[in-house]
Amino acid sequence: RQKSGSGHVVPVWLHYNWCYQSQVTCNHTCSGPDEWGAVAQDCSGRAQSPVNIVTRRLLPDERLTPFHFTGYQETFHGRLANNGHSVQLDLPQSIRVKGGNLVAQYKALQLHLHWGKDGGPGSEHTIDGEQFPMEMHIVHIKEEYASLSQALKDSAGVAVLGFFFQVSKSANKKFDPFINALKHITRPTNSTLLTAVSLEMLTPPQKNMTKYFRYDGSLTTPNCTEAVVCCKKNCDCAALAAFSQLQFPSGEAMVKTSRPVQPLNGRQVYYSGGHVALVSSAALIMSVLLSSALSLHTAA
Ligand SMILES: *[C@@H]1O[C@H](CO)[C@@H](O)[C@H](O)[C@H]1NC(C)=O
Ligand SMILES: [Zn+2]
Repeated sequence: RQKSGSGHVVPVWLHYNWCYQSQVTCNHTCSGPDEWGAVAQDCSGRAQSPVNIVTRRLLPDERLTPFHFTGYQETFHGRLANNGHSVQLDLPQSIRVKGGNLVAQYKALQLHLHWGKDGGPGSEHTIDGEQFPMEMHIVHIKEEYASLSQALKDSAGVAVLGFFFQVSKSANKKFDPFINALKHITRPTNSTLLTAVSLEMLTPPQKNMTKYFRYDGSLTTPNCTEAVVCCKKNCDCAALAAFSQLQFPSGEAMVKTSRPVQPLNGRQVYYSGGHVALVSSAALIMSVLLSSALSLHTAA
């Protein structure tokens, strides 16, 4: 839920008439990705996310040092909600990230995911045209700001780290509490309290979070001014399929919640790992995009 200007609490999905391509039908008049530019002007900007990352065009950047995370192991109680567009987990602000040539330390606000249908292609970013089953975005704001709306006024006020999920045969037990909670929030506005969760349960081991991509990007939902990342985390098929039980406001299955890739328009994508040849074999790849951000699915 988001506060409207008049002080009323209005669910975000009533606020904005945008939707994913999978929701566009002949008798459903929501605005799909092609029309987001009309919903929010920034969505037709020239530095949009997501993008296809072409590995042979990457440039190594030695300033992209490993990230330093604080509070990733900390367990907390977090509200998990179906916000009508995605599933979102509110995060404690004690979770921080710095390093990686970020201009400051950032504190976490929320994470949300983008997925396909029953474990099919669902990530927003692609690598050499390959789409992963799921992508998680952890939204952070600069420490000095009290809210997302404040951070948005600073072009480097928001940092979003993105992680890819890849399918593995073995179940990731640490992911269970999260997956098991999905059945309680199938309808938009439903939420549930996750007790004793930590970001460590959802992200790759920190020692592996040294290889990542970075470019100037945008939010991948209207208003479309975001910052993102991508990394690989294992997830079994049943866990991925569990997301398909969530529903959009229309009652249809919440699937294919990803924006199509956007043109680079001359932007360079940088890589942290030195040897670009290792990119495709790297177990964990992360991309960070930094820019001003306005995430509709953030309960700021
Ligand atoms: C989920 O949301 C629906 C529709 O708003 C509501 O009818 C239902 O009671 C909610 N369920 C829970 C467990 O909150
Ligand atoms: Zn996102």
